Order: sequence, then C-alpha cells, then structure tokens
Amino acid sequence: MKKLFIVANWKSNKTMNEATEWLEEIRNQESPASLSEAGRAGIRNQENKTVIVCPPFTLLAYVQSYIIDHRLPIKLGAQDVSSFTEGQYTGEVNAKQVKEFAEYVIIGHSERREYFHEDDVVLEKKVAMARHAGLTPIFCIPGEDVSIPKGVDIVAYEPTAAIGTGKPDTKESANRVASATKKRHGGLHVLYGGSVTPDNVSSFTRMWQISGVLVGGASLDALEFLAVVHNA
Ligand code: PGA
Repeated sequence: MKKLFIVANWKSNKTMNEATEWLEEIRNQESPASLSEAGRAGIRNQENKTVIVCPPFTLLAYVQSYIIDHRLPIKLGAQDVSSFTEGQYTGEVNAKQVKEFAEYVIIGHSERREYFHEDDVVLEKKVAMARHAGLTPIFCIPGEDVSIPKGVDIVAYEPTAAIGTGKPDTKESANRVASATKKRHGGLHVLYGGSVTPDNVSSFTRMWQISGVLVGGASLDALEFLAVVHNA
C-alpha cells in the first residue's frame, strides 16, 4: 500500500480550549469502544498514513504533551520557522526552539509568501535552519516553476486559486505537477493541498505521483479531519 502523509494546517486558528475539544474528539475515536462500534473510527489502524498536525506556535507545547499523555498516533509540525538563529530577533521562533516540540515544519506556504513577502532567499534560509535543527520541512509551492531549496524531501503543491476557495485543482493537473516536480528535483514526496475535503481526498491520493495531502479548512473539525484521513 502507498505511504501517505496527511497534514493538518490549522493556520491562525484555535485557542487552548478549542484545541482540547479537537484532541478529545480524536482521542475518543481511538478508544477500543469506538473502534469496535465503527470498525475503522480511529487513526491507529491507518498504518500506511503518517498523520501530522500543525498548530500555531502557542499550542505546540500543549498539543505535544496531549499527544504523548494519550499516546495519540499523531506527529507534530509547526507552520513556520525563523530564518535566523537564536538572538535579537523580536517575535521570531527559531528552529532549535521548534524542534523541542515538532518533527516537521511547513515552509513557504503561499500565505507567508503573499502576506509576509517571503521570497526564495528567505525560504532557502528557513529550510537550512530547519534541516540543521533536525526538522523535516514540508515545502509549499504554488506551481511547478517555483524553486525548491536543497534539503527538501516533502513538497506540497498548493495552487493559490485552490486554497480556501472550495475550488480544488483537478486530480490530473495535480498529478502532472507532482510528476514534473519529481522529475526536476528527484526523490521527493509531493503532496497536494487546496480545498481538500473528505469527499475529494481519495481522487488525489489515488493518483500515482501524489503522496498525501495538506489540509486547511477541513482539518479544523476533528471528525471532518478524521474522515479525510480515512478516505485518503
Ligand atoms: P484549504 O487550505 O484546505 O483550506 O484550502 C490548504 C492550505 O492552505 O494548506
């Protein structure tokens, strides 16, 4: 069975209470009772799928301890990382700090490129910082002609017109970009992102060149996200 990455990007959403509700909902679905009722309710029996949740920085420590305490089969990622090391960079969170909590980090999301003017030079530094600290970057590209820094193993193709619009790319186009990206850069996992839902996820994950999905809106509700995981 193909190995898949299913990544939840919470973006700038959720307070501690809201995160607790989400985590409790996931935890309930992992309980033996719900497994026997629904037969396939939790994440634990989805062995070919690596499920990664990317909360905002404020929730990383909390979500990490919840995952550990309740042995949830979820990995943790951050949504961004500083291009600087530790030091006098007010407001920044550096890679070494992120690594205390997370294994993965999203870099180059198109919202960062657009609203925070992150360019290729900055993104290359972020990837280098992440790698140096032992984090695995999930590098987002809006199209196939975008540069991908060295050291990236996981790419998420997210066409901007598909992000948060309810208008996903076609599976054929996503597969073609994944294939072209792999040809140009070799040996990468390419995920698709942009308006992924429980209903359309399998159309993407069934495509030969696509190794998973990056999910924004549909990751905010725990049961909807679980449905994405199951249907992938
Ligand atoms: P969306 O966001 O699923 O809400 O379209 C995806 C993303 O931006 O990562």
